[in-house]
Formats: sequence, C-alpha cells, structure tokens
Amino acid sequence: MTTLATSTGARYARILGTGSYRGSRVVTNEQMCTMIDSTPEWIEQRTGIKERHWATEDETPLSMSAAACRSAMDMAGVEPGRIGAIIVASVSHHRPSPALADYLARELGCPDPAAFDISAACAGFCYSVALAESLIRAGHAGDDGLVLIVGVEKLSEMINIADRGTAFIFGDGAGAAVIGPSRTPGISPTVWGSKPENVETIQIENWLAGASNDTGYPFITMDGRTVFKWALAEVTGHAARAIELAGIRPEELDIFLPHQANDRITDALVRHLHLPENVAVGRDIAEMGNASASSIPIALDRMIREGRATSGQTALIIGYGAGLTYAGQIVVIP
Ligand SMILES: CC(C)(COP(=O)(O)OP(=O)(O)OC[C@H]1O[C@@H](n2cnc3c(N)ncnc32)[C@H](O)[C@@H]1OP(=O)(O)O)[C@@H](O)C(=O)NCCC(=O)NCCS
Repeated sequence: MTTLATSTGARYARILGTGSYRGSRVVTNEQMCTMIDSTPEWIEQRTGIKERHWATEDETPLSMSAAACRSAMDMAGVEPGRIGAIIVASVSHHRPSPALADYLARELGCPDPAAFDISAACAGFCYSVALAESLIRAGHAGDDGLVLIVGVEKLSEMINIADRGTAFIFGDGAGAAVIGPSRTPGISPTVWGSKPENVETIQIENWLAGASNDTGYPFITMDGRTVFKWALAEVTGHAARAIELAGIRPEELDIFLPHQANDRITDALVRHLHLPENVAVGRDIAEMGNASASSIPIALDRMIREGRATSGQTALIIGYGAGLTYAGQIVVIP
C-alpha cells in the first residue's frame, strides 16, 4: 500500500505581536443622540459605551487592516515575506471574491501566503486564533510557521439609524496578531461552537435587500435581549470551560478580555468566573463601541502598549456573536 507523507509543524504556538487601528471619527453619545431617539445616559448605563470610533470614507476594511497588520508585524519583528498564511475575520468586506486576505497580501507585500477570510462575526478573532494555532502545529503555515490574523469591521456603513435599539452600539476598526511557533505552550485548547437555533438573532441583510436602503448597504438587525440572555446563560459556561481546559484556576489568570459587546455582559462574566480583583478586565467598549471581530485584538493591543498586559502574562479571550458563534482560549501575552 502506498504511504503518503503527512505534515507536522511546531509543537506549540503563541502570539508574537499585536497591532490595531481605530476609525478616526469619534462619535460621542451626545452626537449619537442627535441621530437617534435616546439619551447619552441610557446608552452608557445599558452598555458602558461613552463614545465609538467610526471610519471615514477613506478608511476602508483594507486600509484599516493593513495598518493593524503592519504594526503587529513590527512588534513581532517579522517581515511580510515570512508570512505563511493570512486569515481575515470580518463581516464588512463587500466582495464575495476575492477575499480581503488576498488584497491584504498584496497591500502588505506578502509574496505567497495562503489567504482566506472567515465569517464568524464577533467570535471571528478567537476562531482565527484557533485556526492559526492548528495550522502552525499541523505544519501548514509556510517555512517559518507564521500566520497573520486580523479582525476588521466597518459596521457604521451597515447600521440602520432608524433602529434605536442597535444604531448606537457598533464601532469601526482593525486588530491584528502574528502567531508563530513557540517552545512553550502559548495558546490553550479552544472552546468553540455555535447555537444554530438562534441563527437569525443577529443578521446582516442580503445585498439585494441592502440596495433599497438609503445608504445602499445591507443593514444589521439584532434581537439584543436574546443575545444578552444567551451570553449570561451560556457564554459564561463556555468561558469557565476554557479556563478548565487550559489546566489553570481562575485566580491564575492575569487578564480577562471578553468581546466588547456590553459592559453589563462583561460584569456578569466576571461574577460567574469568580475572578479575583487583581485580574485586569478589558473595558475598551467605553471608547470604542462594539467593533465585532476587531474588538478583542484592538483592546488587547491597547492593554499591551499601555503596559496593562505584560509579556508572559495569561489572558482569557472569548468572542461571541452572530450565528450564534462563540470561541475562547487562554493566550500568553507576547
Ligand atoms: C441592545 C441592548 C443594549 C438593549 O438593552 P435592553 O436592556 O436589552 O433593552 P431592550 O431591547 O429590552 O429594550 C428596553 C426598552 O428600552 C428601549 N430602548 C431601546 N433602545 C433604546 C435607546 N437607544 N434609547 C432609549 N431607549 C431604548 C426599548 O424600546 C424598550 O422600551 P419598552 O420597554 O418601552 O419597550 C442590550 O440588549 C444588549 O446590549 N444586548 C447585547 C447586544 C450585543 O451584544 N450585540 C452585539 C452582538 S455580540
């Protein structure tokens, strides 16, 4: 019988560098409330959001992700020519084909990477961490075993300003990470999955429907209360399971960085996990809004650059959103 060769890669993987880019237009709650029937206090009390970053017309998913990726490669000390694979997590790339990852490869000057996009909404970055880690350990990430992942969103184009229940939530930006081989474990087993019965809880309309909107873009629709209840009832358990699978206790975590969907959900997760006070909790939503796939890497990059997350510390990251999808793992800070 013919025996095929199979690939094997590094024993472990870890994050080597991060980068981020925020849309440059800051929209405060006061400004938001000139567009929707609400009050700044209501928005802040219900979500923790004080302001959000929206992209300008010139800031595109490609330009924002390129900026975040350059910054991540710089921190990692990795040249574009060494990147073996690029994974983009986004719901904002407006072309079915080619993937945003292909445009990004050209923009960054990566000569021959495997390149593809994934659609896992607000869980997209953590899905990408799982994929990158698997590619590296399987030996599918090029000669140097380096994967560039980026979560990027420009959701301001897709909000329905007439829907006061969702219009104020979303923000625009990109967050990237270079993931590569490691001598020690740097990414724990991923807890991931989806809840098919709630597939319609958060959706983006199809393009034909979008064409008749004022903006010409499809709108986001969301049953916020159902998302909220699911996060409290089930995402809490997935987060606890991620800690368990990493073989650590909650008090051994240094950082907790959930998807920045709503500060009240973050509070509930912190309570459920019994995290001690010394665990630094990511609360980037106050200034950023909910930037979907980019929310975790943008917040992570900020914590690293501000010295609130330091090399060798452990962070639980967990994303959850449309699908309903979720994914979480513990990562070691580069
Ligand atoms: C969207 C969200 C903030 C709404 O908060 P909520 O407490 O669930 O509010 P509800 O939708 O139940 O609405 C409560 C009331 O506030 C009103 N309301 C909704 N939006 C409002 C706004 N912007 N300003 C003032 N009142 C508002 C509703 O009309 C409703 O009034 P009623 O009781 O008279 O009918 C909350 O559900 C949420 O954050 N969910 C998670 C969403 C999320 O994370 N989505 C991203 C995907 S990861």
